[in-house]
Amino acid sequence: MLLSRYFLPVLKETPKEAQIASHRLMLRAGMIQQSSAGIYSWLPMGLKVMRKIEQIVREEQNRAGANEILMPTIQPSELWQESGRYEDYGLEMLRIKDRHDRDMLYGPTNEEQVTDIFRNHVKSYKSLPINLYHIQWKFRDEVRPRFGIMRGREFLMKDAYSFAHGAEAARIEYNKMFVSYLLTFQRLGLTAIPMEADTGPIGGDMSHEFIILAETGESEVYCHKDWIGRSIDAGDIDYASDLQPIVDRYTNLYAATDEKYDAASCPVADGDLITTRGIEVGHIFYFGTKYSAPMGASVADETGKIADVHMGSYGIGVSRLVGGIIEASHDDAGIIWPDSVAPFDVAVVNLKPGDETCDAMAGDLYEKLTNAGKDVLYDDTNDRPGAKLASMDLIGIPQQVIIGPRIAKEGMVEWKQRRSGETQQLSPDAALNALLA
Ligand SMILES: Nc1ncnc2c1ncn2[C@@H]1O[C@H](COP(=O)(O)OP(=O)(O)O)[C@@H](O)[C@H]1O
Ligand SMILES: [Mg+2]
Repeated sequence: MLLSRYFLPVLKETPKEAQIASHRLMLRAGMIQQSSAGIYSWLPMGLKVMRKIEQIVREEQNRAGANEILMPTIQPSELWQESGRYEDYGLEMLRIKDRHDRDMLYGPTNEEQVTDIFRNHVKSYKSLPINLYHIQWKFRDEVRPRFGIMRGREFLMKDAYSFAHGAEAARIEYNKMFVSYLLTFQRLGLTAIPMEADTGPIGGDMSHEFIILAETGESEVYCHKDWIGRSIDAGDIDYASDLQPIVDRYTNLYAATDEKYDAASCPVADGDLITTRGIEVGHIFYFGTKYSAPMGASVADETGKIADVHMGSYGIGVSRLVGGIIEASHDDAGIIWPDSVAPFDVAVVNLKPGDETCDAMAGDLYEKLTNAGKDVLYDDTNDRPGAKLASMDLIGIPQQVIIGPRIAKEGMVEWKQRRSGETQQLSPDAALNALLA
């Protein structure tokens, strides 16, 4: 991609309305533009990163055996009356009337909709377990949308729903999602700690919020100090095997959300307990027959007896993750993308377009890297060299090849790694080899 043809409206000034680093950097890097409170347009680079996150989430859901579907954003109110949530949901639900005066709503979540799909098609325990998910926009009329896309009103969520015959089978489904979340966040370069979360009237231990620690996070959390610096590596997973040992490995060390934490029963000694803040990027939840019972989602068991199915729901904040990754990985100069979600693999920066040597070297590298399958952003613009270098650091391209007239004359380019800041002068061939290694 030629930067001169790319819509990347980078801001020089720090936008005043942004209170946290990720919001500031997303605006400065031209990733999003506010449309109204908590509602954003995604510009090319923001969209590209979000799509990469979405794809990783999708691959890990599929690997865990979930089936992708796509449910609509607009739902009929009748389904929500069946579950009893139409009245309960309150002002966060955006209610709409169509031209026939029917009550519709913009979905804040999809338990009712998916339960309706399930009950129309599944009648026997033999079809179970089954997990259906989609990646779809949600709308919640939040009282205080803030921090850019972190707490938006319109946001992209992956939500999966499992259906199982009985509580034990439901736990197996829950564990699959638990483990797939470990793998998903690991691929996104994040340490997302599974924290015990409120289970409401269901009780039990099957609700976890996946939280990345950040001072600017909205959730107050409590965890054992050994979580600090602990990395999560779930290894190779066989989803057909018993996953409980892996779940145990990452739940044995105490971590709990504010709602779940109780000083009196907390098993961690005072000196070992840390109180800090974090960003909720995922939430998994078992809720038994809460929706299946009122909505009549049941199956016939071995003896022909009809039983309500046991359900769980599993959310990931796909759009929030764009901000979450930036909160976890930036410096004073800008964003530092993990390779897996970086908008481009390599930036080729021509400091003096029009200079014959620079143009030849930069053009050649751009072509060779592109042909080798790298996604390259070629800065062919006439900006000042200082501004060009600052922009590349701001937008966080992991690998940069900088070509200026002075070293180009000596047949050299500069190779810079965004994360470490390390630079090295190399011949173009050596740089190419290093980048393709
Ligand atoms: N207003 C929002 N803006 C962006 N992402 C959100 C918002 N609300 C929820 N999410 C994301 O969707 C995931 C699943 O949502 P859920 O757990 O139902 O939300 P909540 O925790 O607000 O009840 C959350 O873990 C979070 O990552
Ligand atoms: Mg939640």
